[in-house]
Amino acid sequence: MGAKVSEREATAGRLLRSSLEHSYEPTIDIDWEAPLVHGLWGLPQHRSTLYGTDLWEQLTEDQRRTLTIHEVCSVARIGLWFEMILMQMLLRYAYDRDPRSGHVQYALTEIADECRHSIMFAKMGERYGVPDYAPRPLVHHLGRFFKTVASGPAMFAGTLFVEEILDQFQREAMRDETVQPLTRMVNKIHVTEEARHVRYAREELLRIMPKAGKAERGVAQYLSARTAYLVARNLVHQDVYASVGIDPQVGRRAALDNPHWQESLRWSARKLVPFLREQGIIGGPTEILWKKAHLV
Ligand SMILES: [Fe+2]
Ligand SMILES: [Fe+2]
Repeated sequence: MGAKVSEREATAGRLLRSSLEHSYEPTIDIDWEAPLVHGLWGLPQHRSTLYGTDLWEQLTEDQRRTLTIHEVCSVARIGLWFEMILMQMLLRYAYDRDPRSGHVQYALTEIADECRHSIMFAKMGERYGVPDYAPRPLVHHLGRFFKTVASGPAMFAGTLFVEEILDQFQREAMRDETVQPLTRMVNKIHVTEEARHVRYAREELLRIMPKAGKAERGVAQYLSARTAYLVARNLVHQDVYASVGIDPQVGRRAALDNPHWQESLRWSARKLVPFLREQGIIGGPTEILWKKAHLV
């Protein structure tokens, strides 16, 4: 027990020090007044949900760029939605634990990070001048269910999934010179701070999974698969297609059937999937949801 506790505390200590050294205040650290750059993209064009489809071919360059602006804001909006869920789960987690521990102090630090991120994502949507791409009502309500019931393995696995796939898309976009500086800076801030969150969730899963009973594993498998499926299928809101004159349902259908987009989803989950499989989170009857969402 003693060794385990100190290992957890050692990790928390490192994460807390790193938070002090490498954190941002997006309201100050991003130049929100800077003009957008003509000819640059919202996200790398090959990550557009329509890239490579007939619909894509019918769009002008300008329309394609517009679509990627709406898409990057929509992905950030789903990120914001999940961060609100995560903040509540982490707060409930901390509520039951000893606040003198580094582990709990780091949970509180992560809530503070997510709070700044949510404001940053909100401001990005405002700056780009897009509609509020809030998740559709079913997703909204399932999020409420998840944040109410998820704890332990399900909470950390679900969190890890959302954080890791966003990380992959953002890490690529932040280095891409065809992408708007605003997107790149938002992504750089998020990638830097999320690296700690991913570490925290991964290590916590490694600690708690061996102790999880059969029922708890089953719940973790089910809730993670459900979360992964919902988030992957709703990463981009169908209303983004209206920004370039495409009927939202036609756009959504084309995106879901787009092999290029399906490949992007698998690419975004490629590092996470083997880890979750090792931990017994992916596997069993609910693996079908991971497949249907093009994540494995
Ligand atoms: Fe975040
Ligand atoms: Fe996070």
